[in-house]
Amino acid sequence: MEFDQNIDGLVEKLLPVAREAQKKAYAPYSQFRVGAALLTDGGRVFAGCNVENASYGLTVCAERTAAFKAICEGERVFRAILLVSDSEEPVPPCGACLQVLAEFSGEDMTVISIGKKGDRAVYRLSELIPRAFKFR
Ligand code: THU
Repeated sequence: MEFDQNIDGLVEKLLPVAREAQKKAYAPYSQFRVGAALLTDGGRVFAGCNVENASYGLTVCAERTAAFKAICEGERVFRAILLVSDSEEPVPPCGACLQVLAEFSGEDMTVISIGKKGDRAVYRLSELIPRAFKFR
């Protein structure tokens, strides 16, 4: 997908879903709860939360949980993702999640992050990971 510039529309659609998902985060080790809502090019929305593990490295971020749910339901092109976290300031997705999102972003996708105080950051995926690895 292209970069979707209707940020208010995306926030209205995705924020309630991400907030619900954040409540379900399993984060007993970091206490850092993250919720994500991913919008596909066909208009479907998938929720994700972070899922931690006693073997810390097995933790999966909220963004990848949402992405893998969408893929498993047959989706292949993502339009936007919104994340909400316990961070004071909005944080971008981690590098691993950026690489996974890039696999399914088409031309580009919109990334919105919302922090604890409600501040918003808006990015293009291509600015966060300008040289994603892809087989071409
Ligand atoms: N985490 C996410 O779910 N998404 C991000 O964008 C950054 C980090 C999770 C992983 C871990 O459970 C916790 O936040 C602290 O890193």
